[in-house]
Amino acid sequence: MEFQEIRTELTDALAAASNLKTLEEVRVHFLGKKGSVTNATKSVDFSKLTPEEKRGVGGAVNSLKNWATESIAAKKAELESSPTSESFDRDLTLPGSGPQVGTIHPIRQVQLQLEEIFRGMGFRVFTGREVEREFYNFDALNIPADHPAREMQDTYWLNDGHVLRTHTSATQVRALKKFGAPVRAIFPGRCFRYEAVDASHENTFYQLEGFCVDRDITVANLIAVMKSLLGEVFGREVKVRLRPGYFPFVEPGFELDFECTICSGAGCSTCKKTGWIELIPCGLIHPRVLEAGGIDSKEYSGFAFGCGLTRLAMMKFHIPMIRLFNSGDLRFYEQLAGKS
Ligand code: DAH
Repeated sequence: MEFQEIRTELTDALAAASNLKTLEEVRVHFLGKKGSVTNATKSVDFSKLTPEEKRGVGGAVNSLKNWATESIAAKKAELESSPTSESFDRDLTLPGSGPQVGTIHPIRQVQLQLEEIFRGMGFRVFTGREVEREFYNFDALNIPADHPAREMQDTYWLNDGHVLRTHTSATQVRALKKFGAPVRAIFPGRCFRYEAVDASHENTFYQLEGFCVDRDITVANLIAVMKSLLGEVFGREVKVRLRPGYFPFVEPGFELDFECTICSGAGCSTCKKTGWIELIPCGLIHPRVLEAGGIDSKEYSGFAFGCGLTRLAMMKFHIPMIRLFNSGDLRFYEQLAGKS
């Protein structure tokens, strides 16, 4: 049979095939061992052809085969996506067999949600650097070389004196230099510390830092922004409280706790029976940090906060073990797909 005839015949057969069973018969008729495409290609005697003819005929044979295979596959996809009563002759209790697509990692989901919330409050997103200069990670944040606060963060040092940033606070002074004041920005990203891994510690983790620098910024602005953030993340009003906390780059510094969303403050294992969860260290930016970024600290003030994205994702999705996040275990990720 001529190739062109086969094409016409197959086109008609595909148009007529209204269910998967008939389609399978069509497939066997054309592409099966004794199918007409197979026969037609077998019937060509290549030994009698010149090299040029071989190329021409070979090309035509291949294109016929490919075209037939693709047309049948396309028809199959079409029938599967628009089931008719006839195509229901399968076991409908079997699990679906759609294409396998990946999902957004749970920490990334939380990050994207926070970015959206902060954008809505006029904050820009700036990502900074994972390999950072010692100056921005420490000195610019009022943590000089001999300061005991350096000991609080076990640091990975590179041979050339750079560090793997131990916190996203390292981006604060970069952002001040880049954008000047007034400025509102958040800095999401990956941080690294030389930690022993346990249920809530990893050597690689994610933070989302942010600050707002303007005239007359006070703790009231900080609380208002934190409350609207948590309200949106958890989908309801969340009570917060501030306790004093020490960080060299803020004065005063706080630990912001929020009422445990699991027991609503009654006390449970997640909040260690206190009713509160420690989540966001924060404070008013130390004048030395503003000055390091070239900002006049007499004219401007600001608040800053550093939120553990990993911790927040654990709270939001009720995940008890931090290392699941980097486990690569699809069963874990699939459960959390699109939950935010
Ligand atoms: N960088 C601190 C840490 O990782 C967290 C932090 C504390 C960030 C207070 C801030 C802040 O912006 O104001 O431990």
